[in-house]
Order: sequence, then C-alpha cells, then structure tokens
Amino acid sequence: MAKLSPSILSSDFSQLAAQVALIEEGGADYVHMDIMDGQFVPNITFGGPVVKSLVGKTSLPFDIHLMIERPELRIPDFATPQTEYIVVHQETCDHLDRVIHQIKEVGCKAGVALNPATPVSTLECILGEVDLVLIMSVNPGFSGQKFIPYAVLKVCELDEIRKNEDLDFKIEVDGGVSLENAAMLVESGADILVAGNAVFGAKDISERCREFKKIIE
Ligand code: DX5
Ligand code: ZN
Repeated sequence: MAKLSPSILSSDFSQLAAQVALIEEGGADYVHMDIMDGQFVPNITFGGPVVKSLVGKTSLPFDIHLMIERPELRIPDFATPQTEYIVVHQETCDHLDRVIHQIKEVGCKAGVALNPATPVSTLECILGEVDLVLIMSVNPGFSGQKFIPYAVLKVCELDEIRKNEDLDFKIEVDGGVSLENAAMLVESGADILVAGNAVFGAKDISERCREFKKIIE
C-alpha cells in the first residue's frame, strides 16, 4: 500500500493552510515541502518559518525535501513536532553519514535524495543507515516538469538491493508523477509518491487525492 505526499509547491500559497486541509480531506498521507535556496536549484521557495506555521494546522506528518547547499546548517529549523522525514540531497553533502545522523539526533527520519543523473551506487555505503531514498524523476527546482523515464530503472535497482540485502528504507519518487504513471511506479517498488501539479492543479484537489489513493493502494 503506497502513500501519497502532495507537494505544496504547486499550491496557492496565499491560502496555504486551507490547501493543506483539502489534501488531508482527500486522504493524503504526508505534506511534501520543497525547500529551495536559489543556489543548489534555480528557484527560491520558503524556509523554517513557513514550515512551522503549519504545525497544528493539519494532522498530516511533514515530508521535508531540502534542495539547499550546506543542509547541515539548517536541520534544526525543520525538525518540528510534525516532521517525519527530513530529506537531503546526496549532491549537497560532503559528509553524508554525519548529516544523516544529525537528522536522527533531532528526532526525525532521515532521507537522501538523488538527482536524475546521480547513480544509486553513490549510496551503497549508507543504505543501511537511511530511512528513505528519494528518486528525483525531474531535475529539481520546479513543479510541472515532464517525468524522466529512466528514473524508473533507479527505483527498480533500489528495490532489488533492498530485497537482496534485507534493508527496510522507503523509496519515494518525486517529479512528474501523475495518475497515468502512479501504478507503474508502485509496481516498480515506490512506497511514497510525491505529486505537485497533478494534485494542486486539479479542479477538485481532495477528489484528485482520492483518485491517486485508489490507484496506489
Ligand atoms: C521539484 C520538487 C517537487 C515538485 C513536484 O524540484 O522537488 O516536489 O514540487 O512537482 P510535480 O509533481 O508537478 O513535478
Ligand atoms: Zn520535492
């Protein structure tokens, strides 16, 4: 049974709490929050104050995706009482093992994300330590981009390693996820699907969440 983590990057920020209430009503499992610094990715979004403003406004757990340089300096900003995952990019961490443990020390589950062109093999040493691997299926920075098909091969590869080595990290897919490719991603091994435009671009946001859930459960 896979989970749905709608990305508020595609939401109407002027009504953030109300938009999150709509995904909760539709049965979403997480709120995905994309933190961008204009350095690692060519876009700036929001930081800790906006994340904290949603604490208590929803009962959904937070899935925080950090697309920032030097994430080790910012981990405590995102460790709210509702934060379940903090996900850092492999490409931004010189000392990935240290950052993973920093995340666990603030009481959250630790995830690591891979850009489309970064191979799964770069995580070989650390897979036993992480709670989640996020496979980017677009180049990070914006919502509404086209799904990159070779990302599926990386999901399959990770799922295979997970089975062979008896590991229990979750696999999350982010970028260009739609009603059309959701079932295929879950069959390939994905446990959590992030969807931005496919959820918040819908006329009826709650209903779109229900449609996703029907497909992935
Ligand atoms: C992209 C972000 C995604 C984005 C997904 O860098 O990490 O979470 O919001 O948006 P869609 O689903 O529209 O590709
Ligand atoms: Zn994301």
